[in-house]
Amino acid sequence: LMLCFSVSNIDARPMFGFATQTADKDFKRFFIIYVSLAIANSLFTLMRAFTFAYGGIAAARKLHKSLLNSLLKCSISFLDATPSGRILNRFSSDTWSVDDSLPFIMNILLANMFSLLGTLVLSCYGLPKFLIVLVPLAIFYYFIQNYYRWTSREIKRISSVSLSPVYAHFGETISGLSTIRAFRHVTQFVEHNFLLVSNSIRAQFASLIAGLWLSFRLQLIGIVMVAGVSLIGVIEHVYTIEGSNPALVGLSLSYILSVTGLLNGLISSFTETEKEMIGVERVTAYIDDLPKEEEDNEEQFIFLNEERQQKGATIEYRHATMKYSVDQKVALDNITFQIQSNEKIGIVGRTGSGKSSLLAVLFRLVNLSDGQILIDNVDTTTMRRHTLRQTLAIIPQDPFLFSGTIRENLDPYQHHTDEEIHSALEKCHLFDLVETLGNDLNSMIVERGRNFSVGQKQLFCLARALLRKAKILCLDEATANIDNETDRLIQTSIRDACSNVTVITIAHRVQTILDSDRVIVMDSGRIIEFDTPTNLLKSPQSTFARLVRQAKVSILS
Ligand SMILES: Nc1ncnc2c1ncn2[C@@H]1O[C@H](COP(=O)(O)OP(=O)(O)O)[C@@H](O)[C@H]1O
Ligand SMILES: [Mg+2]
Repeated sequence: LMLCFSVSNIDARPMFGFATQTADKDFKRFFIIYVSLAIANSLFTLMRAFTFAYGGIAAARKLHKSLLNSLLKCSISFLDATPSGRILNRFSSDTWSVDDSLPFIMNILLANMFSLLGTLVLSCYGLPKFLIVLVPLAIFYYFIQNYYRWTSREIKRISSVSLSPVYAHFGETISGLSTIRAFRHVTQFVEHNFLLVSNSIRAQFASLIAGLWLSFRLQLIGIVMVAGVSLIGVIEHVYTIEGSNPALVGLSLSYILSVTGLLNGLISSFTETEKEMIGVERVTAYIDDLPKEEEDNEEQFIFLNEERQQKGATIEYRHATMKYSVDQKVALDNITFQIQSNEKIGIVGRTGSGKSSLLAVLFRLVNLSDGQILIDNVDTTTMRRHTLRQTLAIIPQDPFLFSGTIRENLDPYQHHTDEEIHSALEKCHLFDLVETLGNDLNSMIVERGRNFSVGQKQLFCLARALLRKAKILCLDEATANIDNETDRLIQTSIRDACSNVTVITIAHRVQTILDSDRVIVMDSGRIIEFDTPTNLLKSPQSTFARLVRQAKVSILS
C-alpha cells in the first residue's frame, strides 16, 4: 500500500513540464496520466489514513489488553513493592502515546520515507549516472543523521529536565509570596528564577543550534546533488554521449530540488517516532517482565459437593512454615492447628507476630516453604487459585466499592436475583440504608464509595461475601479504624449472617473477639495459645487474659 501511495504521490508537475515539450498527441496522453495519478493519489492517501487509524487502534487495544492481563496476574510482592503512580503512568501517559501519538507520527515517517525513496528512484531513472553522486551522499547522510539523533535525544532530555524546576519554583513562589516578602527574600528568589530560566533557555538554545547544524548539512547534501545532476547533464551535453536527453536531465533536476526538505522531514519524524516508541517499550516491558504467580496445575478433583456447600469449610494447618524471602527470618514457624466447620476464630498478637501472614498463605498470595494447608481436607496447593479464592472472602481494613450501582457492586457478574441481594443486605443491617438512598439497588455509589462511612463499606463487603456463598470469611484488623459502636454492629451482623460460614477474625481490639468460639494468640510466627476465651481467661497468666485486663483498663480510663 505504501508503495502504491508513493508511486502515486510523486509530484507529477515536473513530469507535466516534461510532457509539454513533446508532441501534441503525446501531450494528451500525459495529461490523462497526470489526472489519473492525482485521483489514485487521493484514493491511496485515504486508504493509508484508514489503515493506519484502524491498525493503530487494533495494536493499541491488543497492547492494553496484554498489559492489563499481565498486571492482573502479577504476583502480590510486585504490587507491594511498586508505587501505584508508576503503574498508573503505564496505563495513562504511555498508553496514550501508543494509542494516539505513535500511529500519527509513524504515518508521517513512512510517508516521508516513501516520498524520498520515490524521488530518488525517479531521479536515478531519469539520469542513471546520478547514482555516482547518490551513493557517497547516502553514506554521509547516514552518519550525519545518526550523530544528530543521538545529540538531539540527549538535548531533549536535558531541556525537559531543566524545565520542571522552573515550573516548581514558580509555583512555590506564588504560594509562598507573603512569606518571601515578609522575610525580604525577594531578590534571592528573583535571581534563582533567572538562573533556572536561563538554564532551561540554554538547553532550548542548544536544541535550536543542533537543528541548524543539521539543516546546514542537509542543504549541503541538496546542493551537491543539484550540482552533481547539473554537472552530469553538462558533461553529457559537451561530449554528446549516446542516450542523453535534456528533458530527462531537467526532470531529475526538478525532483532533486525538493530533496533537502524531504531529508529534513525524514529525520525529524524519525526522531519523534523514536521518542514515542519509548512508550511501547515501557508497556511491553511490563507485559513481558512482570513477575507472575506460577501457573496452576489442572484441577485434580471437584471441590464442592452438595452437602459440603451448606456448611463453612474446615481448615487445617500442618507444620506450615513460611518465609517472605530466603534471607529473612521465618514469618510463620511450624504452625499446626485445626478449625472446625462454621467455627468463629479470633486471632490476636503483637504487630509483626504473623497474623496477616497466616491469611496470606491461606489465600496462596505467598507460598509455604514447608508444610500444608488443607481446606475441607484438601491440600490447597492442589486446587486452582481461582477455586481456592472463590471459597474465601475477606473484609479488608480499607474496603473498596466501585463507582456504579449497588447491584453492580454486590453482584458484578449478575448471578443473583433481587430477592437474594435484598436478603443479604438485610442480614448485614444495610436494608434501611439502601432504602434511604431512594433508588433501591440502582442507587449510585460514588467513586470509591465516598458517600459511605468505612463501617458501612465493610458491611457492603460482608454482603458481597454472603452473596458469593464463600465458605470462609476472613477479617484482617477490619475494624481497626472504626468506633466501638460500629465494630459491634459489624460483629453482630457477622454472627447473625454467617452461621454457615467459618470466620477468622484478626482483631485490633481484644473486645472484638471476646465471644469467638476459640482464640489464637500469636507471637513471633508461632501460636502460643489456642483455646476458648473462657478457658484462656481461667488461667490469669495467659497472654490472652493479660490482653483482656489491659483492654479493660484502657476502656475504664
Ligand atoms: N510483604 C512482606 N514482605 C516481607 N516481609 C513481610 C511482608 N509482610 C510481612 N512481613 C514480615 O513478616 C512478619 C509478620 O508480619 P505480619 O504477618 O504482617 O504480622 P501482623 O499481621 O501480625 O502484624 C513481620 O516480621 C513482617 O515484617
Ligand atoms: Mg497484619
